[in-house]
Amino acid sequence: MATVAVSMAGLLSLSACGGGSDKTESGGQAAAKKVEVFSWWTGPGEADGLKAMEAIFAKQYPQFSFFDAAVAGGSGDQARALLSSKLQANQPPDTFQGHAGAELQGYIKGGKLESLNFLYDELKLKSVFPQQLIDQISVQGQVYSVPVNIHRSNILWFNPSVLKTAGISAAPKTVDEFIADLDKVKKAGKIPISIGSQWTLVHLLESTLLGSLGTDAYNALWTANADWSSADVTKALTNFKTILSYAGTPQEDWQPAAKQVADGEAAFNIMGDWAYGYFHNPPDGGLGKASKTDFDWAPSPGTDGTYLWLSDSFTLPKGAPNRDGAIAWLKVAASKEGQDAFNPKKGSIPARKDADKSLYTDYLAWDLDQWSTDKLAGSIQHGVVANDAWRTAINDAVGLFQQDQDVAKFQTALADAAKNSGQ
Ligand code: GAL
Repeated sequence: MATVAVSMAGLLSLSACGGGSDKTESGGQAAAKKVEVFSWWTGPGEADGLKAMEAIFAKQYPQFSFFDAAVAGGSGDQARALLSSKLQANQPPDTFQGHAGAELQGYIKGGKLESLNFLYDELKLKSVFPQQLIDQISVQGQVYSVPVNIHRSNILWFNPSVLKTAGISAAPKTVDEFIADLDKVKKAGKIPISIGSQWTLVHLLESTLLGSLGTDAYNALWTANADWSSADVTKALTNFKTILSYAGTPQEDWQPAAKQVADGEAAFNIMGDWAYGYFHNPPDGGLGKASKTDFDWAPSPGTDGTYLWLSDSFTLPKGAPNRDGAIAWLKVAASKEGQDAFNPKKGSIPARKDADKSLYTDYLAWDLDQWSTDKLAGSIQHGVVANDAWRTAINDAVGLFQQDQDVAKFQTALADAAKNSGQ
């Protein structure tokens, strides 16, 4: 596995060099020097936001050319594994997307990133991002990345017509109501809840834990006093098992699972709000669907009033081949213009506090409002509360549970994962 990853990294950097940056064009004029931007935003919905920011970068920095080193796969499970082998081999891209929180803290503590205090001072960024976000990307007073957005994980997407056919008049508010509704949909002959690849189950698990345990108990799971062996966790995992028993055939990734809702094949899908970009963006990248008619949303059951958050941020790896180009990219990612181009397409809200609110309409207006009033809880799958080793162990436990459906074994595996995380 490691060998494959390293050789893929080699290939990637070779093909990246093939993008040819320091060459001289026939006219003698130096070609723009490439900036390798590593992310996992390749699929429908995901790529639209990146393209919007790339357009601004191209306009503002013609001396650099954007090189898209994105690696396919929702939530970046493949990308994150490849990135880690590239960093180990001291072959960093010029900049990479990383999640604010425990995931980024791993890179910081591992000495992989340059401090960006110089950029924060130059652009006066400390006052434009929320303090709790700055804390998640800092160590000992040094800030190590530029957050470009805030995403919400705990959203229940649903198809209003399918709910109507099943006799459901409003989105379920509690986990118990949700389970009762799943059963109604099953009886109506539709897929009650659509799912994608394994990481989408970890995503479903985090909403189920939050909705079953409540915010304080969920947040306590990531502290030194965590009790993963409690009866309340057993109940939450039993709920997870029940919900999964209503799931359709696992789809390849989050997009085809979300599409089953948009197409009226499935009633519900629990997914982050990148799904909004996918549903809503015009058909060249998204599905061009109308909100409230073709799809609708509610906080995932039992989580109203809590924002299960995550944030994508860009970094400056030590040894970046084109450091100046990476800094130029970070300046665009940090800017109001960059964030206001990126986020409406990405289905996220800006990390900056001073963004142009009029650009965030429909779901995104609701989202902005919730972000400013809700309590906070951090995402598991998307890097906030658990470091990479812990998240991987949770992923493995979920994979085994999918096969054996043994709640007791699952709970022990999760308790062990917490004990051995080293966090
Ligand atoms: C998350 C990422 C989002 C979105 C999602 C699905 O981890 O933070 O920006 O891309 O995965 O791929």
